[in-house]
Amino acid sequence: MCGIVACLNEGPATGYLLPALRRLEYRGYDSVGIAVTTQDGAVARLRSVERIDALEAAVLRWAGAPLGGAGIGHTRWATHGGVSTANAHPLSDCSHRINLVHNGIIENAGLLRRRLERSGHRFESAVDSEVICHLIEDQLCDAGDPLLAVRRALSLLEGSWAIAVLDAASGRIIVSCHRSPLLLAHTASAVLVASDIAAVGEWVERFRVVDDGDVLELSDVEQHGQSTAGATVFGKTGGVGSVETPGLGGYVDYMAKEIDEQPTAVARLLAELADGVADGSLWRGLSMPAFERLRVVGCGTSLNAGHVIANLVRRFGGVPACLTVASEANSEVVEPDTLCLAISQSGETADVLRAVTTCAQPGTLLGLTNNSHSTLARSADAFLSCNAGPEIGVAATKTFVCQVIAGCALMISALIAVGRLSTSSAAGLVDTMESLPQRLAKATAAAASVVPDIAEKYCTAPGFIYIARGTGVPYAAEGALKLKELTYRWAEHYPAGELKHGPLALIGSGTPVVAVRGADKKLAANIAEVEVRGGHVVSVGTAESTIPVQADLAAPWGPLECIVPLQMLARTIGLTLGWDVDKPRNLAKSVTVE
Ligand code: G6P
Repeated sequence: MCGIVACLNEGPATGYLLPALRRLEYRGYDSVGIAVTTQDGAVARLRSVERIDALEAAVLRWAGAPLGGAGIGHTRWATHGGVSTANAHPLSDCSHRINLVHNGIIENAGLLRRRLERSGHRFESAVDSEVICHLIEDQLCDAGDPLLAVRRALSLLEGSWAIAVLDAASGRIIVSCHRSPLLLAHTASAVLVASDIAAVGEWVERFRVVDDGDVLELSDVEQHGQSTAGATVFGKTGGVGSVETPGLGGYVDYMAKEIDEQPTAVARLLAELADGVADGSLWRGLSMPAFERLRVVGCGTSLNAGHVIANLVRRFGGVPACLTVASEANSEVVEPDTLCLAISQSGETADVLRAVTTCAQPGTLLGLTNNSHSTLARSADAFLSCNAGPEIGVAATKTFVCQVIAGCALMISALIAVGRLSTSSAAGLVDTMESLPQRLAKATAAAASVVPDIAEKYCTAPGFIYIARGTGVPYAAEGALKLKELTYRWAEHYPAGELKHGPLALIGSGTPVVAVRGADKKLAANIAEVEVRGGHVVSVGTAESTIPVQADLAAPWGPLECIVPLQMLARTIGLTLGWDVDKPRNLAKSVTVE
């Protein structure tokens, strides 16, 4: 999704901007651009609807005055206005003095645009963000000073924003944010701004979170930082390695690599967490209050992981647990003594960040994220990392598995601490958990030998149905989500008992139905219902399945091993159809708009 960088450097700004934009690539984007001062006192604006390589080539081809040290950059994921060079950021005003990059959504853009057009402003794009450029242009006439003009323009906006503005006339850069993250950091020669620490973490040890509502000029940052230090959150990047974008390491795509990394990632996670499960210390270490109910909040894959965790808490602890789709959270009534577990691999998903402000009582928000520097990690009362390592593929794979394990480990530990589970039962669960890396590796190997043929057989099918019962349901949901994301084919999941209440009408001769086998034996009857109507069942799980991964049906997290072939099936069909499985169309990894 959209990402921002800005820099004021003693050397050329592109030395920071281009690598920083590359580090934001993993979030997904459909256009990219920079605006950089030139040594003859102007600004060069370069934009592309291709990949960052194309932007880099444009910089190399640049034949104008040498590029200077002040610049802003952006990766765009289209919301308002289609994918075109005109709609790519940086955007500009009528005079091309103001250059702007923006994350977020301007909710009153339509009204502002009509007013601005009536007063003579000419728009070059269909993007909501462009109104900010023209508002600043207007305010400059009155205020004269760009900092004041930006402040006044922002007071007219409704919505969310993180912005960086480059004034061509002065080379000054002004940044601000409101309900959208922005971070500041320094190197020996440069001041850097980014919406995600991953963009600049290679160069800095520490960063500062820009306070909501602050309007800062980059040259003033040091001074401003000192004057507001008490109210400002500082963070440590944790060194270069933790935010580095890894290479493909011989794989053809990141998704293949990340699927294969699942056993190692789970082993690493368990090495860190397992000791604190059976004695309750993992939970106690977070210093969260005891709870009577669990509410899990998330979107997409993270919500599916939350479903697994909620099942465990209900079935093993007898604790009421509910799932909240983050974008629908605002009308919910939260009962007392509810622990809110917000799950987000990025920790930046706007729907989740907004949801937790409405559905978590003070002191009860627990974050589970793969990004310890994220807004969720910083704003939660406590957080646990799922420690999956960098995940570049937009469709989540190893973060899902690690969220499931980290969340289940934590909840088992919590059930011990509140006396709802015996230490001996918990110790047994830890033993089972510790066999997971090996079981996932076996599932990967087993799937590799059968998935290509299954993918070949069904790659022309227009749609797929996924079914399961009980603890298998979240895996059916996740399998169907992966199929949609990577193949652009219809794929819906149902608790198998629901088939006869409607979806069975969809089954015709050859309709592929993927059945995730769990502990509930009634699934066999549902499979039979499909088969007698001509549906083709691809079953995953036990030894007699089409894809036998020998899932542990008794595990409280359900048949986790089944997710591996489901990920591989979606990837293989996506590749067969010629799609880029790392960057599915229309999707982004870090969705920073509601
Ligand atoms: C996007 C991604 C999904 C992801 C969801 C939630 O929609 O395309 O793969 O599951 O966001 O992301 P989060 O970072 O909050 O886990």
